[in-house]
Amino acid sequence: MNSSAESLRGARLLGRRHAGGWSSRMAFILAAAGSAVGLGNVWKFPYIAGEYGGGAFVLVYLACIGLIGLPILAAEIMIGRRGGGSPIHSFESLAAREGHSKNWRVIGWIGIGCAFLILSFYSVVAGWSLSYLWFVVDGQIAAAGSESHDVALAMGDLFANLLASPAALLAGHTLIMGITMLIVAGGIRSGLERAVCWMVPGLFLLLIALVVYAAATTGRFTSAITFLFKPDFSALSWEAVLVALGHAFFTLSVGMTAMMAYGSYLKRHVSIGKASFAIAGLDTLVALLAGLAIFPIVFAQGLEPGAGPGLIFVTLPIAFTEVPGGSLVAMLFFLFLAIAALSSTISILEPVVEYLEQRRAWTRPKATTVMGTSIWMLGISSVLAFNVAADVTVFGMNLFDFLDFVTSNLLLPLGGLLIAIYAGHVLSREALADELGLGESRLLEIWRFLLRYLTPVGVGAVLIYNLI
Ligand code: PHE
Repeated sequence: MNSSAESLRGARLLGRRHAGGWSSRMAFILAAAGSAVGLGNVWKFPYIAGEYGGGAFVLVYLACIGLIGLPILAAEIMIGRRGGGSPIHSFESLAAREGHSKNWRVIGWIGIGCAFLILSFYSVVAGWSLSYLWFVVDGQIAAAGSESHDVALAMGDLFANLLASPAALLAGHTLIMGITMLIVAGGIRSGLERAVCWMVPGLFLLLIALVVYAAATTGRFTSAITFLFKPDFSALSWEAVLVALGHAFFTLSVGMTAMMAYGSYLKRHVSIGKASFAIAGLDTLVALLAGLAIFPIVFAQGLEPGAGPGLIFVTLPIAFTEVPGGSLVAMLFFLFLAIAALSSTISILEPVVEYLEQRRAWTRPKATTVMGTSIWMLGISSVLAFNVAADVTVFGMNLFDFLDFVTSNLLLPLGGLLIAIYAGHVLSREALADELGLGESRLLEIWRFLLRYLTPVGVGAVLIYNLI
């Protein structure tokens, strides 16, 4: 098949599976990068890096990305492309073709459960960026910035007030779930494709501008570099290692078969090895840029690096009120963040819907409505965890933290572990070499070694240690 015919076929496949279809040749990289880059990079990475003491945590995180996340990312995409269907269907067809047990489809089941839980709280946080977009428009951010007293305190109050309002949180959560469901059900895909095309570069440029601003005006850029990159291993706990590992999975969107679903649309001639490097590299860069934009402001304002989930919402608005044209910058920032979050939420809902469509023969709108509404309902527990149900705890965590913990720190690593064992020990070496597309190189051997030995031992040890 010549390449234009092939890309047409790819577009049609995408069109069928993702009603409306990603049409360009960059479809896969864009969709996968859109899934990876999201709240995990801009919201979660800085706040957990702050909570777990900076440097040593960041180093462990980077090691987890390179040595564990990246090999599993490639493995997931590969299983998706070779299997060619929804994740569960892919494991079944590979079992038939390569002669192994069908039971590996349990990985797809874990992924579906995990997607359900992640989306419920992710959507609530994505809603915060919509609330902040509104705060820019109605002047609340400018007002907090212009107050003669402590700006950091005023921004802190703004965030605390948002969390204290179930109605405001519910509105954001509902909007995000609504848009996600519309997109997944098949309405405005071409619009999303266009949005994602400029969103990734747009967010990237804005973050660079914010880093430059933070470096030039706060006088605390070197403190931020020291905090983020100078490891102090005495501050590193086992819990921090687990969180770093879990976040490596979360930020790369691996461990719950989202990348497998996207991989099933990938054309044969694309090298999965190279594509994975590009996705993981971009994702890491965005996270580090977010950290470099935020921590100088944290230190200059005397804020607490471990302030928790509100970190970016308290720090960045301070920068926005101080630069000329700050309101426009703020609007663009929260808009890009919301779109970055949406390109992740659709990748989380997609495998769940796709499964019901194929297994139960439900129509796409029906599957989307049923699953989306159920996830929205579960999300209400995260909405209330910040206010009326703040005292309700499970294993000492509020409902929001609990959902985050169970998914990022248990289910994603467990899914990743099984994917590594499957790709490393069940699939043949020839299959791996064929799919990875790096030829008979040393890279192939290194990759296979990481999948077969380092990942199972490393992830297994961290999981077991933390469970007991
Ligand atoms: N990777 C996304 C982020 O960093 C979140 C995500 C997790 C998306 C799991 C898909 C699957 O925001």
